[in-house]
This record gives sequence, C-alpha cells and structure tokens, in this order.
Amino acid sequence: RTWHSPTSEASLSESGASVGVEDVRFLREQLVDFMLGYKFAIDEIITKINILREDFNHTNEYNPIEHINSRLKSPESVLEKCRRKNYRMDLASIRDNVLDIAGVRVVCSFISDIAKIRDMLVGQQDITLLAERDYITNRKPNGYQSLHLIVSIPVFRSNRTDNVPVEIQIRTIAMDFWASLEHKIYYKYRGAVPPNLLSELTNAAEAATHLDEKMEALHRLVDHTSDPGSR
Ligand code: GTP
Ligand code: MG
Repeated sequence: RTWHSPTSEASLSESGASVGVEDVRFLREQLVDFMLGYKFAIDEIITKINILREDFNHTNEYNPIEHINSRLKSPESVLEKCRRKNYRMDLASIRDNVLDIAGVRVVCSFISDIAKIRDMLVGQQDITLLAERDYITNRKPNGYQSLHLIVSIPVFRSNRTDNVPVEIQIRTIAMDFWASLEHKIYYKYRGAVPPNLLSELTNAAEAATHLDEKMEALHRLVDHTSDPGSR
C-alpha cells in the first residue's frame, strides 16, 4: 500500500474513486501505529538519559546535563521531507529514509560533557549507532555546532519488536542558544537571510565557541582544585 500525498481524507478520496472510507480508515490506523513506535523510542531514550543524569550526579556529584527536549515529527513534515529529498511516499520508504522522525536534544553545560554523554549512550547494549555527524569538530559554514547521532533502539510492542531510529542532538547551552536564534532568523526571512545578518550570526557563533572554551577552562580549574573552603 502506498501512502498518498497529501494525507487528508478529502484528497485521498478525490485522487481515485477506488479509495473508500475503509481504505482511509486502514491507512490512518496504520499511520497512528507507525508514529506510536517513534513516540515509544523517544520515551526510552529520555528514560536512558534521565538515568544517566541521576547516576552521574550520584557518582560524580556533578550533573553534565542541563536539559532535555524531544520532538516527534508531524506527518506533514515527514511528507515534506520525502518531497524535498525525493523519497517514495510509503511507510516502508519512510521507515528506511526518514531517520529523524523521533528527535531528542540533550543540552550540556560544558563541551567535554558532550563526548561523555555520547559514549555513555553509544556504549549501551541495546543502542546501535547508525550514523554520526560531528558539527563541533566540523562546524557548518553558518556557525552551527552540535553533535548528531542517529541511533536505533528496540521498541517492544504488544505483538512485535521494532528497531526504531532516533536522532539525538548533543550540544552546549551556548551552541543551543545560537541554534535557536539562528532558527528563528532563518524562518523570519524564509531562508533568505540578508548577508550582513548572516555574518553577524557567524560572529555570534565565534563568540559562543569562545565562551564555551572559557567556561570549559574555568570548569577544569575548579574541578582540579581541592575544596576551595580549605584554602
Ligand atoms: P534535515 O533534512 O533538516 O533533517 O537535515 P539533514 O538530514 O541533512 O541532517 P543535519 O544533520 O544537517 O540536520 C539535522 C537537524 O539539525 C536539523 O533538522 C536541525 O534541527 C539541526 N540543524 C542542522 N543544521 C542547522 C543549522 O544550520 N541551524 C540550526 N538552527 N539547526 C540546524
Ligand atoms: Mg531533521
């Protein structure tokens, strides 16, 4: 069965006399079931990260995670991505090609926390690393920095087990601050950001990196000094 575009009932029934109410209902149930798997995968990853946060805090008396966000891509943006990337629009193709339906973002205090969290996650038995993009070592020309992992995690459903991909973005507070502003500006100008603003953004990214490096150095200093009260 193909997943026609767009998904609205009206256009599905308009697209061919052979598509009946039953077909639409079946399609919708299939889609809801499909999307639920990604929601469960997000739940699992968030549980894992919360466990790491609590355990790390307990073991090291230090919390490397500032906050966690997650998002489930809407069916509309899944279809939009298929259109943009020329993927076939059926569930099998979406499953194989669109690997960022489930997204989790981990925001850390310090640059060095990023690799720690990455290693703690990737080292887990039930997590398979499918792809990794290091936009910190190789920042994007606009200044974007973040570590992206595409992992796969088993989701135990009532009648089967699915391996579900999740995109995990790990970045510092400064990188996150920059990315959310850049995102807002990009949308405000619908992608056509004026050149002067683009170069200001690149400058701001430099400043963010500078701040991250300063904070990291300070953090190391404090970390390696014995109890400050005793001096
Ligand atoms: P998408 O088709 O957008 O998913 O990109 P991709 O498959 O080429 O992957 P990539 O790793 O480049 O980007 C994935 C996600 O990272 C995006 O959906 C954004 O959330 C984030 N991202 C990547 N580049 C930028 C950027 O320049 N600015 C901001 N604000 N976010 C970015
Ligand atoms: Mg994406």
